[in-house]
Amino acid sequence: MSLRQVELEDVIPLRHEVLRPGQMRETCYFEGDDNETTRHFAWVEDGQVLSIATVMEAGRDVDGKTVPYQLRGMATDPASAGQGIGSSFLQALHETVNDSWWCNAREVAVRFYERNGLVVVGEPFEIPGIGTHYVMVYEKTAGS
Ligand SMILES: CC(C)(COP(=O)(O)OP(=O)(O)OC[C@H]1O[C@@H](n2cnc3c(N)ncnc32)[C@H](O)[C@@H]1OP(=O)(O)O)[C@@H](O)C(=O)NCCC(=O)NCCS
Repeated sequence: MSLRQVELEDVIPLRHEVLRPGQMRETCYFEGDDNETTRHFAWVEDGQVLSIATVMEAGRDVDGKTVPYQLRGMATDPASAGQGIGSSFLQALHETVNDSWWCNAREVAVRFYERNGLVVVGEPFEIPGIGTHYVMVYEKTAGS
């Protein structure tokens, strides 16, 4: 299994199935998806996309420091969820991005991100139609 940088269209099927089930396919496209600096990643096994995530340049101030990247649209194929794939993928992403990043984490995913080195900052907030979210940050430190 390995981390691959892929095209936007390669992440759309899992975004749709896992993150926007039952919604129009158009809802799976995020602002910034086509930016030159945006990178789409997949965790691939035997040519099959098992997990996806997108990294965008989107600086966010956290405690007076700018966290330069945002992780968006992370999802694992439901048939493969809960087997450690998302964790392996995130560890590989930490190395590839090689910088600090933040994300809006769904409540159900907070423990998953915490186990993978992220911390919650600030108060929970609602994204209409999707639910409670927390801003979480992975801080790249020397040696991490
Ligand atoms: C969150 C997610 C990306 C993790 O990927 P994964 O390959 O299942 O990750 P792992 O097997 O390494 O870890 C599983 C952890 O994810 C949590 N999890 C969240 N949603 C889950 C789901 N639908 N199925 C299984 N585990 C899920 C589990 O509780 C588990 O955490 P725990 O060990 O602390 O209990 C994946 O489960 C998923 O796509 N969930 C639905 C979409 C989602 O919530 N994406 C995050 C948006 S911020």
